Amino acid sequence: MQKIKRVKNMNELKLIPYPKYAKVTEGILDCKVLQPVGDRCFAFDDFKEKIETYGVEFSANRGAVLRYSVKQCDVQDEEGYCITVDVNGINVSAPNQIGLGYAFCSLRQLIFNHDGKLPHCNIKDEPYIKHRGLLFDVGRYYFEKEYVFKIIDLCYLHKINVLHWHLTEDQGWRIQIDKYPLLTQKGSRRSHTNFGVKPHGGYYTKEDIKEIIAYANQRNIQVFPEIDMPGHIQSALACYPHLGCFDRKLKVATHWGVKHDPLCAGKESTYQFAFDVIDEVIEMFGENTKYIHIGGDEVFRHRWQLCKNCQDTMQKHGLKDEEALQGHFMKKLCEYIVDKGYIPVMWNGVDADIDVHPNAVWQFWSGEIDASKENDAKRSFQPSKGFIVSNSSFTYLDFPYGMLDLKKAYSFNPIQKDYGDNMLGVEVSLWTEYVPNFKTACARLLPRLCALSEAMWSKEKTAYPQFEERLAFTVQFLKHEGYKSRPLRVANPNKLRGAAQKAWFGRRVLHWQGLHNLIDDACVTNKLSKKQ
Ligand code: ACM
Ligand code: ZN
Repeated sequence: MQKIKRVKNMNELKLIPYPKYAKVTEGILDCKVLQPVGDRCFAFDDFKEKIETYGVEFSANRGAVLRYSVKQCDVQDEEGYCITVDVNGINVSAPNQIGLGYAFCSLRQLIFNHDGKLPHCNIKDEPYIKHRGLLFDVGRYYFEKEYVFKIIDLCYLHKINVLHWHLTEDQGWRIQIDKYPLLTQKGSRRSHTNFGVKPHGGYYTKEDIKEIIAYANQRNIQVFPEIDMPGHIQSALACYPHLGCFDRKLKVATHWGVKHDPLCAGKESTYQFAFDVIDEVIEMFGENTKYIHIGGDEVFRHRWQLCKNCQDTMQKHGLKDEEALQGHFMKKLCEYIVDKGYIPVMWNGVDADIDVHPNAVWQFWSGEIDASKENDAKRSFQPSKGFIVSNSSFTYLDFPYGMLDLKKAYSFNPIQKDYGDNMLGVEVSLWTEYVPNFKTACARLLPRLCALSEAMWSKEKTAYPQFEERLAFTVQFLKHEGYKSRPLRVANPNKLRGAAQKAWFGRRVLHWQGLHNLIDDACVTNKLSKKQ
């Protein structure tokens, strides 16, 4: 057993996210040797494999009895579970394998955090939010399959059940599409990055994707794919220039910043491209997901103003402006997805044609959802419409700690109003413009993911100081599991340090988003005016 600080207050379970109900009673159970009684299953095998690395032994005839089974217990939700610890040993029950998996995740953390000596207790745990997601952007930086597995393991430990996989970006196309082989042959590689002169790239084959989905599903995680269109698509335009408005010869983007070349919304071949990609995504993801995310965020429409095909399409369909043209584009994709039996999801930045499809789901990343605003009300508060909450100010883990510190992350309350059944879930996001590797990913995620996982799982959060006390143990546990967290003094920086981080982050946005794109825009406009 790894040596950690002794537990001072035995009345409290050192567990994140904190369970819905937990009562600690007198007595301690020594768990250094466990005697399991139950049927073999993934949840138990995974637990056993992990916990042996903490120095816990398993025996057939000695040690604390660990009884586990799938059976009804005092929880309502299919993800719920019950654990009791007393003189007779540990008793684990759950209505199905999902809950059983979560029970073992809790037990694993508890045994580590309590140094192998569990307080007698009674736990009845279940979530209050159904869809608890982590968005993982592999478009900016490619992460090897092994690291995707590690991110999935981290989600499992935090009882996060959706991996929103952001698979395409200006800086890289990461998913094999047979009909457009250049997307991965060429579009998955950029010549250099923000951090260095070396090329960077990589992609997931169909086999990889199948394997990753299976790995995630085993751990109660749905993988929810995103193909961001019509913006954030420079990697595809670099391979197939005809998909853009002017057949420009672009490179896979090297730096971040919102690019100004979207797909052309006036050519049939672009729509066909989008449908073909969606077909292959559906073929790969199959029943694993009910959602297909098609992005729609941060689309600059200057090119459309200058493009004859786009202007003709607007005229043909009576669209009053380029914003309506984006609505038209998204609507066609939504209809296609709905016809295939899936639910389209879009970012709320699509300020266009709010009735793109009655079944479309909106993911709110910018601003609060406000039912009194006409757009929000139409999008989200009508029957059969739903939304996913991911307001950036609380959930974007690429933000420096000076912008989103641990205290603020823990204060996140996703349910601001009575959203009823319209709120489908909550997601936190790891965008990777400045996350080139797994080590940095951990430094961005942890410890904020611990705080946010609790905000997504536990309706009644504890007071912040109590969370911090539990966290001190959980970060040691995570370290043992291979995830290095940032220390508290970094996660809650002082004002000066926080302001410096904010300025540094902002300066970089200004530099690339502003200057680079301004020059690029001037070039296109200039060339076009010469042509005309
Ligand atoms: C987003 O952050 N552009 C969804
Ligand atoms: Zn066009």
